[in-house]
Amino acid sequence: MRIWIISLGLLAVMGPVMAKMFTIQGDTGRNRENHPIWSLRNASNGNAVILEPNKKLSINFCLRRESNITIRDFRFSNGNHSENVMIEVDRVNIYSFLSPEDPNHNWSRFWSTGNLNRRPLYLHMGWHTLSVRFNGTADGLAIDHILLDIEDEKLTDDIFTCQLTCTADQDYNVRRNDVETEASFLVQESYKTTCPEVDNINMPIFNPSVQEYEITAALPHYRAFTNYRTENTTGCPHLSPFYWSFSNVLLPSKNGEILNSNKAKLVITQPTESTNSKIAVRIILFFKLEGKKNGMIDSEMGTIFRVRFDGLTDLVQLKFSYKGRMAETSSPEMRLLLPSKREAEWNTRDFSWTSEDYNVIIMHVESNSTKPLHMEHLSLERRPMLADKVERIYKGDDTIVEVVFSDFWWLNPDSMTVHLAATGRSYHNVSYFRIYRPIPWNGGYAQVFVLYQDGNARLLPVPPEGLEWIPFGSSVIIGQTDPTMVRPYASITDAYIDATNLGIELLYKNGGSSKLKISSSLSETRVTVSDLFLTQDPVIFPFTTFRSMYVAEGNSDVDSVLVNGDHPLHIMGNFNYLIGRSFVFRRRCMSRHLMLSPDIYIDVRRTTNAVDRRDIVSSQPFQSLLQRIQNTRYRLWTPRLRYTYSRT
Ligand SMILES: *[C@@H]1O[C@H](CO)[C@@H](O)[C@H](O)[C@H]1NC(C)=O
Ligand SMILES: *[C@@H]1O[C@H](CO)[C@@H](O)[C@H](O)[C@H]1NC(C)=O
Ligand SMILES: *[C@@H]1O[C@H](CO)[C@@H](O)[C@H](O)[C@H]1NC(C)=O
Ligand SMILES: *[C@@H]1O[C@H](CO)[C@@H](O)[C@H](O)[C@H]1NC(C)=O
Ligand SMILES: *[C@@H]1O[C@H](CO)[C@@H](O)[C@H](O)[C@H]1NC(C)=O
Ligand SMILES: *[C@@H]1O[C@H](CO)[C@@H](O)[C@H](O)[C@H]1NC(C)=O
Ligand SMILES: *[C@@H]1O[C@H](CO)[C@@H](O)[C@H](O)[C@H]1NC(C)=O
Ligand SMILES: *[C@@H]1O[C@H](CO)[C@@H](O)[C@H](O)[C@H]1NC(C)=O
Repeated sequence: MRIWIISLGLLAVMGPVMAKMFTIQGDTGRNRENHPIWSLRNASNGNAVILEPNKKLSINFCLRRESNITIRDFRFSNGNHSENVMIEVDRVNIYSFLSPEDPNHNWSRFWSTGNLNRRPLYLHMGWHTLSVRFNGTADGLAIDHILLDIEDEKLTDDIFTCQLTCTADQDYNVRRNDVETEASFLVQESYKTTCPEVDNINMPIFNPSVQEYEITAALPHYRAFTNYRTENTTGCPHLSPFYWSFSNVLLPSKNGEILNSNKAKLVITQPTESTNSKIAVRIILFFKLEGKKNGMIDSEMGTIFRVRFDGLTDLVQLKFSYKGRMAETSSPEMRLLLPSKREAEWNTRDFSWTSEDYNVIIMHVESNSTKPLHMEHLSLERRPMLADKVERIYKGDDTIVEVVFSDFWWLNPDSMTVHLAATGRSYHNVSYFRIYRPIPWNGGYAQVFVLYQDGNARLLPVPPEGLEWIPFGSSVIIGQTDPTMVRPYASITDAYIDATNLGIELLYKNGGSSKLKISSSLSETRVTVSDLFLTQDPVIFPFTTFRSMYVAEGNSDVDSVLVNGDHPLHIMGNFNYLIGRSFVFRRRCMSRHLMLSPDIYIDVRRTTNAVDRRDIVSSQPFQSLLQRIQNTRYRLWTPRLRYTYSRT
């Protein structure tokens, strides 16, 4: 069975409100089953749908929010006779007209109505029907397409065609204002990205007198049961492990020849030592790699340098050395190539390269070949990441605790020691740990909480019956961070886990500490963070940070934020900061990216005083922080480590 596919047109600018044009093509989708389709040369795509007498053509469409709509054009042909055409939206007639009669009775003569409604139609959010009828008994109408201008620049094709639907704002009324606390400040630090595997949503929350807060994860409000949970790396060129390459270099070359790829520079020079070989050259490669400061791991991870020759007739001797983070050049490593073995590779260890300066690779090539050497390819790439090592350190009737050792941890040498109260044992160099709860309805266990050494916490409600696991999406950094970092973190040194009571005590590298208590019910998982001991200035170092992803409607892990359960704002909204006691980070619209990943609620439950300290906003330190954040906000792209999604 076919489904309506309505193609998305160009973006049009209309006055102050951005309107987006959507084309409803007559001959596509379900109407092919219910109405004749004629191939007509002058239809915009060669076909038109035929509306026969006494029939109605109905087209479903959906809106993301209440919107103004203009029917910009109705293109049709009416063959032999003129008819009285009526256009309805949600069964209300909005426009009627008498179609012109073509003296030649030619079905290929198409007419355009132009704007049908002078004043835009104001339609509510959700599902609508546009219908076309005529009340004559004549031969019918051939409908080519209908163009709509919709004043909602975020509306997408998937939402317009109701493949993904949105929930109303009003159905969300979680007002957790039952306690008096000092207000918190949420700062907008999000930036645009095309990569769905990046945490471009970044919202630090500040509160100088916070003592206790709750982070809650619950399923999104929309009714969707497809468990989309794979990652999507389209639009993520920076996640590629391939740094640079050169092809077809002929040796010997002119001394001092320089080749440029967009990421590296290759210079061919004479060797410094004299040799007896017929060909002897030195190749020097210069390149930069991004590191921790930009939230990247390129300068941190080990690499593989590969060289491949074509059509060798003689032995080739290669010597590789490099200069990166260390002051000295590495000692040379030799490889011999033969006509039967034309490739060589060298590995560098993790933390060999630098992000502070140029990195250099030096390669000596010597051969007694009488022919010039053809170096087909040389390239540098990141080493592959090995699988995580997992150790189950606790299994009780209610809980499983696992510690995970990653092959590479971006904050290394920072690492976390996990102490388990039940056994008195400690586990060093842990990258993250995860906690499972049993789920009675399928006999299995589900991950409900994961905490990484960098303070990133991920929470999940237990999966609904019928699903083995649902994916994590948004995350929350528990602990003070530097909000001007592209990839903020709160380095944890120790976690003391009381698996019986699901309590955790955290110690941070900055001397701070906090206590966590995890509880899960059928509908949600909650972490209560209490006994906060903050060692950094709370006006400029947030106590927690919400992190997530938004590329477009339908391709996001979060799309709006509500303060105190009130008026929702778009997650990419152009606000500097919001003031409130509770924040809901939710998805109004379904998303194909991690569709069932949870909405996150952050509620401040206790503060040392209960005044509304809006004056903090105007304080000099906070203002200068806002300024610095504005400056970093529009920096492009940062990868997030590929967190492993929950599996049981
Ligand atoms: C619809 O248009 C009217 C006037 O043209 C305007 O006042 C109103 O704000 C618009 N509504 C939306 C949701 O864009
Ligand atoms: C249209 O009119 C022509 C004669 O002009 C006739 O042959 C044809 O059958 C008519 N078509 C329809 C669909 O009524
Ligand atoms: C109908 O219009 C088409 C397209 O302009 C034209 O090619 C064709 O000759 C016309 N037929 C008649 C019968 O006028
Ligand atoms: C059909 O389209 C052609 C070019 O697209 C145009 O020249 C012609 O006038 C059109 N014919 C009718 C009958 O609309
Ligand atoms: C068709 O609709 C027009 C305008 O609404 C009306 O004037 C006409 O009487 C109707 N004709 C029939 C046959 O119902
Ligand atoms: C993956 O992401 C790209 C770019 O952000 C987007 O265009 C595409 O629709 C996404 N794919 C799926 C299956 O959602
Ligand atoms: C080339 O020949 C010279 C002289 O026989 C020898 O010293 C040198 O090692 C050879 N070089 C290679 C790469 O085989
Ligand atoms: C700790 O783990 C990291 C990888 O996550 C590894 O690179 C490092 O060598 C380990 N350190 C110790 C002391 O084992």
